[in-house]
Parts: sequence; C-alpha cells; structure tokens
Amino acid sequence: MKDAAINRQVSLSISLASGHFQVADMFSKSFFALVTFTMAVVAAPPRRAVCSNGRTASDAACCAWFDGGECGEETHESLRLTFHDAIGFSKSLAREGKFGGGGADGSIMAFAEIETNFHANNGVDEIVEAQRPFALKHNVSFGDFIQFAGAVGVSNCAGGSRLQFLAGRSNVSQASPDLLVPEPSDATDKIFARMEDAGFNVIDTVDLLISHTVAAQDHVDSSIPGTPFDSTPGTFDSQFFVETLLAGSLFPGNGSNVGEELSPLAGEFRLQSDFEIARDARSACEWQSFITDHSLMVRKFEGVMQRLATVGQNPRALTDCSEVIPVPKTVQLPPATLPAGKALKDVQGACRATPFPRLKAAPGPATTVSPVPPS
Ligand code: HEM
Ligand SMILES: *[C@@H]1O[C@H](CO)[C@@H](O)[C@H](O)[C@H]1NC(C)=O
Ligand SMILES: *[C@@H]1O[C@H](CO)[C@@H](O)[C@H](O)[C@H]1NC(C)=O
Ligand SMILES: *[C@@H]1O[C@H](CO)[C@@H](O)[C@H](O)[C@H]1NC(C)=O
Repeated sequence: MKDAAINRQVSLSISLASGHFQVADMFSKSFFALVTFTMAVVAAPPRRAVCSNGRTASDAACCAWFDGGECGEETHESLRLTFHDAIGFSKSLAREGKFGGGGADGSIMAFAEIETNFHANNGVDEIVEAQRPFALKHNVSFGDFIQFAGAVGVSNCAGGSRLQFLAGRSNVSQASPDLLVPEPSDATDKIFARMEDAGFNVIDTVDLLISHTVAAQDHVDSSIPGTPFDSTPGTFDSQFFVETLLAGSLFPGNGSNVGEELSPLAGEFRLQSDFEIARDARSACEWQSFITDHSLMVRKFEGVMQRLATVGQNPRALTDCSEVIPVPKTVQLPPATLPAGKALKDVQGACRATPFPRLKAAPGPATTVSPVPPS
C-alpha cells in the first residue's frame, strides 16, 4: 500500500512534467532547460490511460491518485520527514568543534538504523522504508527524494502550497547527532532555542507549524493512531490555528500522555508544544494571523519550506526542478469557523496587538473529529 501510494506520487509528477519520461529526467538540468511545464502537459504521451472518473493519466497507476486519499497519512508522513531530516543541523555543536549534522542531507534514510531510533523520530521509520526503494530505483539522492516527496505531498492537499523543489543534494552524509528534533513535551524556550540554532526564528517556527494543519499523531498516544491535530487534516486550511486556541476539556484517548494537552474536541489531539506556542507572547500574533488570511498562510509556508529544504545545503549549487511539483487544486475553502458547539468565549486568544477575529460557529451538533485512516 505504501509503495503504491508513493509510486502514485512519483508517477503523477512524471506524468505532469514529462509524460513518458523516466523519473531520473526530473533531476536533469538539460531536460528542463528545453521543455516547459505547459508544453509537457499538452504533448500527448504514448500509452495514456483513462481512469474510472473520466480523467486521463500517462499510466493506469496514476488513476488511484486522482481517485482520492491524496492528502492522507502518506502525505502527512512525507511532510513530517522533510522536517526530521532537515532539523538535524546545529550551529552551536559546530561552534564547539563537533559534528552538528548535515541538515536536509538524507541522513535519516542513509542512517535510518541510527536516526529512526532517536526518541523524537518515533514512527518515521515507516515512511523512510516506504520511500527508500524509489530513491534507489531512480538513482537520486536520499536528501533530494525526501524533499521531493514532501513537496508533492503538500500539493495534493486542497488549498495547499506549491513548494519549491531543488535537486542536486549530495548523497553522501553522516548520521545526525541525537536530541536535535524537538519533542512535543519540550518547553517553548527550548523549542525556540533549538529552532534558532538551526536557523529558524520564532516567526519561522510558527510558519513551519502550518504543517500541522495536515497532520495526525500515532505515537504520543499509541492507543489512538491517526488522531488529527485539527478537524480537517485532509485540507490545507486555517482551522488548526483556530482549534488550537480553544479551551481544552478532554483527552481523546487513553488518558494524559507525555507531550499531550487537553483537547477541545472529541477525536482531536493537541500537542503540548502547539498549545504553548499558540499562547506564547512571542508567537501568538503570528499564530492568530493565519486564521483570517489563508493566502498569507500558503505564502508563508512556501517561504519557510524553501529554507527548511536547504538547511545545510547551498541552494545556488542546486537545480530548480519545481516544475515537477504539481499545482495544488484551486479550491474555494470556506472561511475558518469555530467548530459547532463552540463560542468566542471558548477562545483563549493570546495576541495582545490584535483581538481574536469574530468568527462564526459552524451549525449543528458539537463537532467530533474522525481519525485519518492508515494508507
Ligand atoms: C517545532 C516543533 C515540532 C514538534 C514538537 C512536533 C511534534 C510532532 C509530533 C509529536 C507529531 C506526532 C507524531 C506521531 O505521533 O506520529 C507530529 C506530527 C507531524 N508533524 Fe510535527 N512537530 C514539530 C514541527 C513540525 C514541522 C516543522 C513539520 C513540517 C514542516 C511538522 C510536520 C508534521 C506532520 C505533517 C505531522 C503528521 C504526521 C502524520 O500524520 O503521520 N512538524 N509533530
Ligand atoms: C545513496 O547512498 C546509499 C547508501 O547510503 C546507496 O545505497 C545509494 O545507492 C546511493 N544513491 C545514489 C544516487 O548515489
Ligand atoms: C547513479 O548516480 C550516481 C551519482 O549521481 C552516478 O555516478 C551513477 O553513474 C548513477 N548510476 C546509474 C546506474 O545511473
Ligand atoms: C492505557 O494506559 C494504561 C496506563 O496508563 C495502560 O496500562 C494501558 O495498556 C493503556 N491502554 C492502551 C489501549 O494503550
């Protein structure tokens, strides 16, 4: 299942970018110097397949990709992996003369037996092993493949960003040191310091956490895998930023776990780190700003992900292959709302400069959230 899903990610990009060319072509400078994105889509490749929904694809394997589940678990895990590879980078360790990690270098795949055993990487082994055969088959570096898969994944979330994709990272890496990936139980001071040490300030950190709008947990409370961080984990909308500011009242699973906070909705999971960053005076206004400005959120994520994807790399030495990343579906997302059953009095607004927006509540009985099904 996992392999099939990633094959679909890869195949779709190939079909969009070049019709019948091999995946390795995506990484070739000369190919993209000659063929534009539009031309490639218009040119009819040989063996096109007609899918059951009437859409056509360059290969029948792409049909399942059109049919649904596009912004599901596989995508979420691929996006998380971009972070867990890249954040293995420490300027302060380097200043002490130690190896501080190579950033977005693919080391989490090359040295999976070391890095996936770090506590904060719990669960990433699945997506590492699912992606590895594709990187090997297409002879592209692990670092490139991880960022490619994350970008393709986000493009399949309705309302999502179209992330830049640069190719050409070296495949040579060393295992990252442990303790560089933030934990949900870490205090905000610790998370902000760790992020700063990797080149991301407080505002950048909030911008990176836009990722949690398409996210769920499996391992903080392992009794309820797939429990999402907002009510719309398949949509790249602003609901996450509303719902994290609601007063919490329940634990969705088996009691309180390390790194967990009370959640406002049945079936929804709240990380302690998201709870605190949403309310910290340094980050609260950036957090709240996305609630009424989805296009700002999309742009901010594109900007900060461009930097995350090149931590430890020289972007000028890489080749811009962004045209292989599909253009996300343009959808008219409904404005952010308070979940049904909630009112403005339930909001724990924390931005001093700007009052919490006067959102409407969704109609109907109290919102409950369904798990993200396993891919
Ligand atoms: C800054 C501190 C961060 C902390 C403490 C944190 C923590 C977590 C935790 C504990 C989970 C649940 C993992 C599990 O139980 O399966 C999670 C999921 C996730 N995180 Fe983060 N995260 C952070 C930043 C980021 C960033 C920067 C990104 C990407 C740019 C990201 C993307 C994701 C995604 C997409 C998931 C969902 C994975 C899935 O549904 O399978 N996170 N995060
Ligand atoms: C990348 O390195 C791994 C070993 O870590 C190797 O198996 C793989 O073939 C390499 N890929 C490329 C494109 O050099
Ligand atoms: C795989 O990639 C490496 C590094 O880019 C290159 O040296 C090697 O010739 C490639 N192998 C194949 C089979 O294309
Ligand atoms: C729930 O938590 C208790 C301890 O807090 C543990 O003994 C039990 O196995 C857990 N149940 C599940 C389903 O994980």
